[in-house]
Amino acid sequence: MKLSMLGLAMALASQAALAATPAPPLQDKQAFIEHLIQQMTLDEKIGQLRLISIGPEMPHAKIREEIAAGRIGGTFNSRTAPENRPMQDAAMRSRLKIPMFFAYDVIHGNRTIFPISLGLAATWDMDAIAKVGRTSAIEAAADSLDMTFAPMVDIARDPRWGRTSEGFGEDTYLTSRIGQVMVKGFQGSSPANPDSIMAIVKHFALYGAVEGGRDYNTVDMSLPKMYNDYLPPYRASLDAGAGGVMVALNSINGVPATSNTWLMNDLLRGEWGFKGVTISDHGAIQELIRHGVAKDGREAAKLAIKAGIDMSMNDSLYGEELPGLVKSGEVTQAELDQAVREVLGAKYEMGLFKDPYVRIGKAENDLKDYYADARLHRDAARDVARRSLVLLENRKETLPLKKAGTIALVGPLADAPIDMMGSWAADGRPAHSVTVREGLRRAVGDKAKLIYAKGSNVTGDKAMFDYLNFLNFDAPEIVDDLRPAAVLIDEAVKAAKQADVVVAVVGESRGMSHESSSRTTLEIPAIQRDLIKALKATGKPLVLVLMNGRPLSIGWEREQADALLETWFSGTEGGNAIADVLFGDYNPSGKLAITFPRSVGQIPMYYNHLRIGRPFTPGKPGNYTSQYFEEPNGPLYPFGYGLSYSSFEVSGLQLAKNQLKRGDTLQATVTVKNTGKRDGETVVQLYLQDVSASMSRPVKELKNFQKLLLKAGESRTVTFSISEDDLKFYNGQLQRVAEPGQFNVQVGLDSEAVQQQSFELL
Ligand code: NOJ
Repeated sequence: MKLSMLGLAMALASQAALAATPAPPLQDKQAFIEHLIQQMTLDEKIGQLRLISIGPEMPHAKIREEIAAGRIGGTFNSRTAPENRPMQDAAMRSRLKIPMFFAYDVIHGNRTIFPISLGLAATWDMDAIAKVGRTSAIEAAADSLDMTFAPMVDIARDPRWGRTSEGFGEDTYLTSRIGQVMVKGFQGSSPANPDSIMAIVKHFALYGAVEGGRDYNTVDMSLPKMYNDYLPPYRASLDAGAGGVMVALNSINGVPATSNTWLMNDLLRGEWGFKGVTISDHGAIQELIRHGVAKDGREAAKLAIKAGIDMSMNDSLYGEELPGLVKSGEVTQAELDQAVREVLGAKYEMGLFKDPYVRIGKAENDLKDYYADARLHRDAARDVARRSLVLLENRKETLPLKKAGTIALVGPLADAPIDMMGSWAADGRPAHSVTVREGLRRAVGDKAKLIYAKGSNVTGDKAMFDYLNFLNFDAPEIVDDLRPAAVLIDEAVKAAKQADVVVAVVGESRGMSHESSSRTTLEIPAIQRDLIKALKATGKPLVLVLMNGRPLSIGWEREQADALLETWFSGTEGGNAIADVLFGDYNPSGKLAITFPRSVGQIPMYYNHLRIGRPFTPGKPGNYTSQYFEEPNGPLYPFGYGLSYSSFEVSGLQLAKNQLKRGDTLQATVTVKNTGKRDGETVVQLYLQDVSASMSRPVKELKNFQKLLLKAGESRTVTFSISEDDLKFYNGQLQRVAEPGQFNVQVGLDSEAVQQQSFELL
């Protein structure tokens, strides 16, 4: 007892001495943060670990009091300087003046909304994607935001999962490349810059692999599959400098990510050496009780902090339970300090200690109207959006359309400003969206007549309608036209009969491809299919413009349509971009970043599946092979697929040598020719296959690509350099190795139609 009194006295004395020591210079990050930590009380430390959501309904005065008392570390969802300044002022009134940070889900734009991530991936255009990241950061930082919960790099191979729309598709390599570009775009040369925001990579890990595509469900996965297919995009994004990680809501092989010490400590911090901040997802610490791994809130908080979850997002448990846990010694000072250190480190990296108002700015510079149209980056949005559109079919050169005659524009998504934005549209405003109707109207001017009829609602299912309208508090997500379905169809058919061509904009409302919008089918709702059928019956050329956030099974629609254009949710300038492509002012160049299956029953379907002993061979009887017997096998549209108004030919694949020494590189060259009449862009894709290895390896894997613009008739030689690193994979012992033997090199304009050559790794 005597001794511990003495110990306490000594500790207090040393704390007082430290507080008395002058603060180390700001440039010395480590010393600066350590000095700060030494001065913090238990409550102040725990306060730094709390990230709270700010909504208009919140008690703002009370929140400011809490901040001033050092009990909140950061917020999300408050998003303009006038909202955030009073909170930063409160932090500056707190004892240690530790600045707050302000975060938001800036996923595919902040005010200017770009195509959804799945659409961005379809551009295969790293410059365009860099522009999205940078523009989003400039807009968000100008609004006072410091951090974004993006990029989302969860590989998605089950399109029933609604959040497929938020990611970059099914492929490890493409997603990794995009993740890196987005991180660099958001953070610029440093997350401390006044026009940069810190990137928080999510959802660590494997959220895209939830069972059955059911959101928030479990993930059960072998380690080689994790290491080879699912983990690289997170790692690549962190290697690109992302400041933090958001932890997934799912469990992994039975252990929730939020309490997963292997995932967060052994892998992330140990193996990968990550030093940034980790943030739980919304309410995830509390959810450990429902996962069945914590008996109460106290245990949940203990598990989370021990697993290395620094900040709790909108969860009261750290605040409530950590004081007791630390006092009892169940959570050590060192564990608590480490979490605090990482939060303070992130604030330091965002430049907030240097200037807490670096992005908030001065009150006299606040804008009168944060929502002014003039603040948008419309040119960038239009440019990126048109690059994201994928031409799936174009029979009899139905497209491009002429700006002449009469065009009937129909469909529930033809004039749908909310849907243009897609899910997680940050601070985008529907009023800023150029719908397809508006885009076409502007494009044709008085050169052609445009007749519009809605034709159908998005869905005829009342329950689905209510579900989709449940979450949006400001305005209905989807507006039901109360006229009977037959009346709507009649009106559309009447319009079609007067027209030379019919453009029908159909698919999903944005809420159908959203968090918590898992589907059991990939079909376009029946009510819209009735409309398509009626339009087809008019005999007029039929162009289907698809809006959706996941692959749809559109085999039937493909038969009805003369042309099929996949437009995802294409953002603020989507309508203009779609008009650019429909009228040929831009030659489509997008390629699918995800396989389109024929039916939901084929799921999971992805191009880079492992080899098997009894593969199905197209054109041969399927008996005793791995296939489904009631419908054709293989995808409806493969990964990497997309047409152009021009045509391209790949020929003469050559390898510079047929053996590769370790440490050496090998050049693969191929000639690409634009054999059509228009200038256009295409994506040359390089796939590799390890022919025989210590484990079954994928049939092919994307390892590189080049997007190039070729003039009509132009040929170009494209060279890819293949290195030993491209041949590496994680073997059964999780060693990253390139095993000697034969490799096939495949080059093509999609993942199926490829040329092949082989070489041997010595
Ligand atoms: C929950 C979502 O899962 C996550 O992606 C998002 O960043 C947070 N909410 C914050 O809005």
